[in-house]
Amino acid sequence: MNILRGSRVKKSSKKANRFTSSIEFDAPIARHVIKINMAHVLSLLRSGEVGREIAAPCLGFFLRLPEVMRLDKEAEDIHHMIEQEAIRKIGIEKAGQINLGKSRNDQVVTAIRMEARERLLQLSEALISVQKSLELASKKSGDLVIPGYTHLQHAQPVTLSFHLQSYFDGFERDFSRLTEAYSRLNLSPMGAAALAGTSVPVNRRYVASLLAFDGLVKNAMDAVSSRDFAVELVSCAEMIMIGMSRLAEEIILWSSSEFGFVEVSDLHAATSSIMPQKKNPVVAEMIRAKCGSVLGHLSATCSILKALPNSYNLDLQEVTPHLWSALSDTAASAELMAEMLSSMLFSEDSINSA
Ligand code: ARG
Repeated sequence: MNILRGSRVKKSSKKANRFTSSIEFDAPIARHVIKINMAHVLSLLRSGEVGREIAAPCLGFFLRLPEVMRLDKEAEDIHHMIEQEAIRKIGIEKAGQINLGKSRNDQVVTAIRMEARERLLQLSEALISVQKSLELASKKSGDLVIPGYTHLQHAQPVTLSFHLQSYFDGFERDFSRLTEAYSRLNLSPMGAAALAGTSVPVNRRYVASLLAFDGLVKNAMDAVSSRDFAVELVSCAEMIMIGMSRLAEEIILWSSSEFGFVEVSDLHAATSSIMPQKKNPVVAEMIRAKCGSVLGHLSATCSILKALPNSYNLDLQEVTPHLWSALSDTAASAELMAEMLSSMLFSEDSINSA
């Protein structure tokens, strides 16, 4: 029995189903959707809306679900897929109660916020490791003096350490932007239901605390309609990428024979099949390129959101993969930048002769 087909809308086109489904990129939120469902059932139990005879088999069903599920390509999304599975396993009488007082609209944005907060923390850690590597390289360089440039022309002599510290300070601001973004991100939309709340007695604060949120997105319509947290996170990611891309550009320039200031480790270089004398700083090049990709994700996110009327529209679904790609590209770039910085070698000779 498909709960979404057969009454108001009958059979749908297979192509249209695939086109409008989010199942292909719902994997990152699956485990959060399970937790949200459990918190919601506990809230219904607490308010007496459902009894133990309903809550226990529902919770049992969710506990037995694996965190990594095989995604059913025919499902509209992970929410629909799990609900269908619950109906199959424990029957419509019990499984039918799970969605009492909640909607996919509040559930999906809650799950996205839960996944995003983990990725934000992961990105913050990667950023700290970039800063640590910069600090280490700066300490190792001692009093080494390099040409300071303006317009890429020799300007004034500066220490290499001073130069590296400038990037450190920029990343420090990025870090504080992430911390601030976290405070706006870690708020629970649950209880907003489809758009206007619910008459079912759900305790929003109780659900929020079970899911480790720091507070609530108060207005129900705002809770389901807004994705400004995604714009904010992708902007933070892009700002980090701009800093890293500038640093990558200098590493690339400084590794050329003309400069020869630095040599990246073999771990982060490649060669050419036809010109085997070359040592190409390919990791730095990819970091520089990813900055462009993340900017693309930011532009896509803003463009998708800009003309949406309240409240939930399926357009919102299209934002989610941009958020994941932006955050994972940035975290991966930062992790590699940290490795590269701590393993590359500066050439005092070339620097001194410059
Ligand atoms: N799959 C959607 C998303 O990722 C959630 C489903 C909302 N669908 C609906 N008919 N209200 O945003």
